[in-house]
Amino acid sequence: MSTEPSSSAADSSRATLAVTLRVWRQPARGQPGRFVDYPARGLNPNMSFLEMLDVVNDELTLKGEEPIAFAHDCREGICGTCSLQINGKPHGPRTGVATCQTYMRSFRDGETIVVEPFRARAFPVIKDLVTDRSAFDRIQQAGGFITARTGSAPEANSLPVPKDDADLAMDAAQCIGCGACVAACKNASAMLFVAAKVSHLGLLPQGQAERERRVLAMMRTADEEGFGGCTNQFECSAACPKLISQDFIARLNRDFIKASFHSAFRPKPNGGVGSG
Ligand code: SF4
Ligand code: FES
Repeated sequence: MSTEPSSSAADSSRATLAVTLRVWRQPARGQPGRFVDYPARGLNPNMSFLEMLDVVNDELTLKGEEPIAFAHDCREGICGTCSLQINGKPHGPRTGVATCQTYMRSFRDGETIVVEPFRARAFPVIKDLVTDRSAFDRIQQAGGFITARTGSAPEANSLPVPKDDADLAMDAAQCIGCGACVAACKNASAMLFVAAKVSHLGLLPQGQAERERRVLAMMRTADEEGFGGCTNQFECSAACPKLISQDFIARLNRDFIKASFHSAFRPKPNGGVGSG
């Protein structure tokens, strides 16, 4: 679900649109950056935000200037790479869509649009609008998998899953790892991302074998990567292009507390207790 452009936004039937782009330019990781203004004229209001950046980059290239570096892949809201902060909002003004699904008709003619990379200590800028979000990969590698053989699809009725659990697991599995939840959070917390990844496996029978190890490992890795804690602001859910609910964070906390207790008091072979 997504909100429609406001009535003040560009009329999509108008021939063209002109905006000023105020873009963060940074030559390399660790180098100082600055905002640079670029005029973008003659835009079709129905072009996507990324297509608009393509047009601006074509003009820069023709002038012999360095094009603006930005990340993208699928351009249809699946891969999570097109993460941009647009006018201070992760993925721009619309709700429930990624940057690649944002269209120029969502902006006013003559508007100045500020475009930045996602800002978080764990997402360092590589160049211009491109950030290194490999911290998410490392969290995922710490526990976001199952060891059960997947093989070919089993007969559906051989593994009964309650409909409510299946629906919830599918909701959580929609996370595309874009990082908007981190960029929107004043603590740069990755809790919504971790909650989505932990929940979509923890709700299904195949995910039970590693359920406790998974949540402990993924939470520990998120801390090690420098993400902050959750203070229940819920900006994460509001910015999420897949509208993943903050309720999954409550579920994550329950799983984490339970796993921590079990880990601390698990009997050891020598008769002692401790983290096992
Ligand atoms: S939870 Fe939502 S905002 Fe966060 S990484 Fe997943 S899809 Fe992106
Ligand atoms: S380019 Fe893949 S989600 Fe936007």
